[in-house]
Amino acid sequence: MMKKALAFTLLSLLISSCGQDYNSNSGDLGQYAPVEGIDSSTPDGMRLLAAYKVFQGKCFQCHQAWLGYKTSAQWVSAGKVTAGSTGGSDVWTILKNNGGNMPPDPIAQLTAEELTFVEEWINGI
Ligand code: HEC
Repeated sequence: MMKKALAFTLLSLLISSCGQDYNSNSGDLGQYAPVEGIDSSTPDGMRLLAAYKVFQGKCFQCHQAWLGYKTSAQWVSAGKVTAGSTGGSDVWTILKNNGGNMPPDPIAQLTAEELTFVEEWINGI
């Protein structure tokens, strides 16, 4: 009986988490669908998840290796991000909005909200 109840609860959680995804209107990071391997139970993990979703939409189609960076430490050791410093982070300085050329046309520049997600993530590492 207990096992059935547990299985049902887990199944419901699984189903209820399926329909959710990036919701740019709510600004609620808790709305993000989880990404396997990203631990979004910590504040850093939540900010990483938000930034990861931005990269998923506008960067990973070309930068496929980055798909595998599921912790902030991995982004730092890969040299893409400097903890606490947007100015020292390639993924930030190269953005069109910040004087670089990424993402290339015709992919849309990051929106103000997407920039904020990336900025808050880097500054919070
Ligand atoms: C359509 C393909 C494409 C997309 C989408 C794209 N890039 Fe790039 N990116 C490239 C190519 C090709 C290079 C290497 C040549 C160059 O530097 O222009 C590059 C180079 C880079 C570099 C420097 C080299 C490196 O790997 O560190 C960074 C940083 C970067 N891109 C960040 C981004 C970010 C952040 C996004 C998303 C906002 C993005 N790119 C989206 C194609 C893409």
